[in-house]
Amino acid sequence: MSAPAVIERVLFTEEQVAERIREVAREIGEKYRGRDLKLIAVLKGAVFFLTELARAIEIPVKIDFLAISTFGGSAPGMVRIAKDLDDPIQDQDVLLVEDIIDTGFTTRFLLQTLAGRAPRSLGVCTLLDRTARRIVQLQIDYRCFEIPDRFVVGCGLDHKQLYRNLPYIAVMHPERD
Ligand code: IMP
Ligand code: MG
Repeated sequence: MSAPAVIERVLFTEEQVAERIREVAREIGEKYRGRDLKLIAVLKGAVFFLTELARAIEIPVKIDFLAISTFGGSAPGMVRIAKDLDDPIQDQDVLLVEDIIDTGFTTRFLLQTLAGRAPRSLGVCTLLDRTARRIVQLQIDYRCFEIPDRFVVGCGLDHKQLYRNLPYIAVMHPERD
């Protein structure tokens, strides 16, 4: 696929993304061996990462999804569940799979929500981490890439719902949308 004109530069190629996901999947497989791991992804951005991660994890995993909507406009962190998980997570080892952690508000909301359901353990695995914009301090268990303070698309990340299917992670031209 040739790069759309909105792309300024590729940060991580398809091969780099795949290799890094395999590394992280190996760590996860070792950590959770013999346990009952459930991967939970937030629709829609994290779905691409979840499927690639899950395929590379060498232990059996379960998957489930939820969807959120943000509201409140200028009030950050105003998040609600638009589609809940299909199944309970009580007494299970749960790994929240995120596309990107930016301010951290969304992840904090999700972790608080999931923790309230009494999982056996609860961790976070993110494809991208933009610590430069972090407001809420969080412990991140697995992170594939740290990225600079630029808007990125690809590998599930969108701009106005487009470019999720780009197989690489790219910085957008700030002036073009
Ligand atoms: P947070 O609550 O500020 O951490 O926001 C996280 C959410 O913002 C992500 O799940 C994405 O949907 C969105 N987001 C943040 N940065 C980017 C980006 O660079 N590209 C695409 N979506 C982004
Ligand atoms: Mg989005």
